[in-house]
Amino acid sequence: MQILVSVASKHGATAEIGEIIATGLRDAGLEVITLPPDRVESVEPYDAVILGSAVYAGKWMESARAFADRHASALEARPVWLFSSGPLGDPPMPSGDVPEMLNIAERLGARGHRTFAGRIDRDQLGIVERAITAVVHAPDGDFRDVADIRGWADEVIEALAPHQAVAS
Ligand SMILES: Cc1cc2nc3c(=O)[nH]c(=O)nc-3n(C[C@H](O)[C@H](O)[C@H](O)COP(=O)(O)O)c2cc1C
Repeated sequence: MQILVSVASKHGATAEIGEIIATGLRDAGLEVITLPPDRVESVEPYDAVILGSAVYAGKWMESARAFADRHASALEARPVWLFSSGPLGDPPMPSGDVPEMLNIAERLGARGHRTFAGRIDRDQLGIVERAITAVVHAPDGDFRDVADIRGWADEVIEALAPHQAVAS
């Protein structure tokens, strides 16, 4: 089985979540390719796809949305999981899933979707981003929970097990 993990990330935090998921899948013996959404020409070579995006101003990044549009019919035909990264603080806010991800999950018939807490490193932000995060009082820091992310990867692995038996 070959799994695609494709992640839209502006400052790297969501890409690292994708790497944690990819490592979990590899540790379970699956073959995993990681590529950003705009580098994926076709999803046909993959038996399953995990698509993730950072959330900015309540929306998925354009490259992840465009990926879902561009490959919609091929994605509908294979197991797909989605994740977002955005909420910050303890407890992480804003709470709940972004509508974007829920809409895409419904359209593609995704097997699962999850929102993970994110990270802001103020030193990485441009002047406009700093101003926005100051206005909304977004806390600086890394709120990602590696155990939570690995746990979700384990759920995906478990759900893939019957497909793996068919593929081998
Ligand atoms: C300008 C700005 C706007 C943001 N807007 C949201 C938002 O609307 N909802 C949310 O959950 N997170 C929001 N975030 C938090 C980011 O999504 C979070 O920090 C994420 O982990 C960043 O991922 P990346 O490093 O992969 O780009 C925002 C962050 C910045 C800097």
